[in-house]
Amino acid sequence: MFLKITSAERMKNTEKRRIDSMKVTISVIKADIGGFVGHSHSHPDILKYADELLSAAKDEKTVTDFHVAHCGDDLELIMTHGKGVQDKGIHALAWDIFTKCTEKAKSMKLYGAGQDMLKDSFSGNLKGMGPGFAEMEFEERESEPLIVFMADKTEPGAWNLPLYRMFADPFSTAGLVIDPKVTKGFTFEVHDVKKNRSITMSTPNQSYQLLSLIGTPSRFVIKHVFRNLDSEIAAVSSTERLGLIAGRYVGKDDPVMIVRAQSGFPAVGEILEPFAFPYMVAGWMRGSHHGPFMPVSQNDAKPTRFDGPPRVLALGFQLCNGMLGLPSDMFSDPSFDLARQKANEITDYIRRHGPFEPARLSSDEMEYTTLPQVMKDLEGKWNRLD
Ligand code: 13P
Ligand code: 13P
Ligand code: MG
Ligand code: MG
Repeated sequence: MFLKITSAERMKNTEKRRIDSMKVTISVIKADIGGFVGHSHSHPDILKYADELLSAAKDEKTVTDFHVAHCGDDLELIMTHGKGVQDKGIHALAWDIFTKCTEKAKSMKLYGAGQDMLKDSFSGNLKGMGPGFAEMEFEERESEPLIVFMADKTEPGAWNLPLYRMFADPFSTAGLVIDPKVTKGFTFEVHDVKKNRSITMSTPNQSYQLLSLIGTPSRFVIKHVFRNLDSEIAAVSSTERLGLIAGRYVGKDDPVMIVRAQSGFPAVGEILEPFAFPYMVAGWMRGSHHGPFMPVSQNDAKPTRFDGPPRVLALGFQLCNGMLGLPSDMFSDPSFDLARQKANEITDYIRRHGPFEPARLSSDEMEYTTLPQVMKDLEGKWNRLD
């Protein structure tokens, strides 16, 4: 039988198809705009203020949905919208919120207010301005689980090890061996943050070459991961290096990352598994030390011991027509207790080295800390050895 469709129905169907195929963008944009107390935590009044500002942006339909979080002293704006990555309006909105929150932080005399606001005014894009961002655009799947990772007291290369294990290590991600949608592997885009260049490498073919680069996380940083099967975006991280932008020590870059899960990507549990091992990262006290990366819940994302140890927070979302909905606090799970305990044991051990390497970063890495100022005092006081 021939079904008659009215033009109103046809329009409704067309609109539904448009919405069904609409791309969604998730932007995670962060900045340290002031710490409470010292560099350890974020003040609830600042988080509330950022929430109110994003609420207004949602009312004006600038963003579809949002969630405000913090990891230590870093203010994290998690937003969805339909405008694509590096959108001028979205970056301007984040800059405006950070500026307003900095003003409030200054009025409250919070510590290091405006720490990551390296430029005086916004010029169209947050690149090189201080705040970090990770963004991806994709067509929302029938079900779209994703995880937003946020770190404090470390640098962007801290994601290298877990990204490799999620997308290239079959001893961590079982799907690489048993899921036909995953066995073709993944392609990694790596940035050389010191030489401002990038390279792509496909795994498993180029696994060893990839490892030869990303084993130096202070310089080589994984920016994107794509699925080989169809080039679909799987993960993105923030790669801004504050010291390289400012040419001096301005706190650590405290990175963020977004990872898509399930149905052709690693499962949620495969994405979290690498964090069951509290591997060593650079950062911690004065951005100058190595320490274990401790997976924590939102409640425990406030590093205090020796300003650490470095923390990683994971909030899971189940996107629904561009809406983030409620976050699920992924490391709020006793199965990560042993990782936390191990991190505390490593903390005790490595702190006993005091100012000695490898507890303190190598002299190469200390270039962007306050140590060179101390070395300057010794200039002219050396005697030649012949
Ligand atoms: P200040 O006490 O001078 O800020 O230095 C210590 C520190 O926390 C570096 O960010
Ligand atoms: P943040 O980079 O988190 O501000 O920490 C700076 C610091 O010096 C901690 O000791
Ligand atoms: Mg700080
Ligand atoms: Mg921080």
